[in-house]
Amino acid sequence: MASRPDLPPVVRHVEEVRRQLEPLRAQGERIGFVPTMGALHPGHLSLVDVCSRECDATVVSIFVNPTQFGPNEDYEKYPRNLQKDLELLAPYGVDLVFAPEVEEIYPPGFGTYVEAQGVTEHWEGRSRPGHFRGVATVVTKLFLIVQPHVAYFGHKDYQQSVVIRQVVRDLNIPVEIRVCPTVREEDGLAWSSRNAYLSPEERQQALVLWQSLQLAQQLIHSGQQDPRTVLAQMKHLYDQHPAVRLDYVGLVDPDTLLPVERITGPVVALVAAWVGQTRLIDNLRIEPPH
Ligand code: PAJ
Repeated sequence: MASRPDLPPVVRHVEEVRRQLEPLRAQGERIGFVPTMGALHPGHLSLVDVCSRECDATVVSIFVNPTQFGPNEDYEKYPRNLQKDLELLAPYGVDLVFAPEVEEIYPPGFGTYVEAQGVTEHWEGRSRPGHFRGVATVVTKLFLIVQPHVAYFGHKDYQQSVVIRQVVRDLNIPVEIRVCPTVREEDGLAWSSRNAYLSPEERQQALVLWQSLQLAQQLIHSGQQDPRTVLAQMKHLYDQHPAVRLDYVGLVDPDTLLPVERITGPVVALVAAWVGQTRLIDNLRIEPPH
């Protein structure tokens, strides 16, 4: 019988991360990094898989970052299961898992934040004030702690990836950002740690997010260039699912995240909706026909 792969080593302290990575860096190894909040699923694991193929050393962080949650959000109930996460990571030959306590990242007296302007104004930034400040701050800190050559993010959180690119550019952080495709369940629902909150009925209702993105794609592929028409059709679909409360839909420029006036080039369709008490987001990049 094949023996089970060893669990990856877990490091709790910043100094220990530095100490363990120093010899690898000195040998010229390419260090890849996948930041996560744990509750790992196939979306996360796809990033770890690509990272381990493209890099000599793979570092994963697992940290439920309090500063990116609003006061009435799910920080307390966010799923945490380090042992299960380590078992899921075992087959990928991860070199180091950084799983700090909150005090390690935010010690008493902490008071410096990273705030990206512009791309944070709309969509998630508007619905979740302070969210991207928390994300930009923790990701900047993690970059400074791990000092990876390349870091992997998911298209699933599209606006987050645009924010991270801007932070890296604006602050001259020497890291390459790779954005990898959204991984979906068989019926199209994007994997998310928050899917665990859904009841079976809600899980079914949640499919409307993916259906609305596919509808947008069909309309644009068949030549529709007016974003108002596409958005109206998408909203109409949500009207037929009263258990789902739409937060926003948008058709945006992939770089600026500003709404497009006409669909003449690639756009990203963004959606956010409440399914019961659970807030879900999804998106799809769509290219119009030539
Ligand atoms: P988390 O939600 O755990 O996601 C970690 C990474 O996995 C992010 O880059 C996210 O975009 C990616 N991801 C999540 N679901 C995915 C899916 N279905 N397919 C592909 N990739 C997926 O995003 C965060 O954590 C945090 O904001 C973090 C960046 C770690 C900062 O705290």
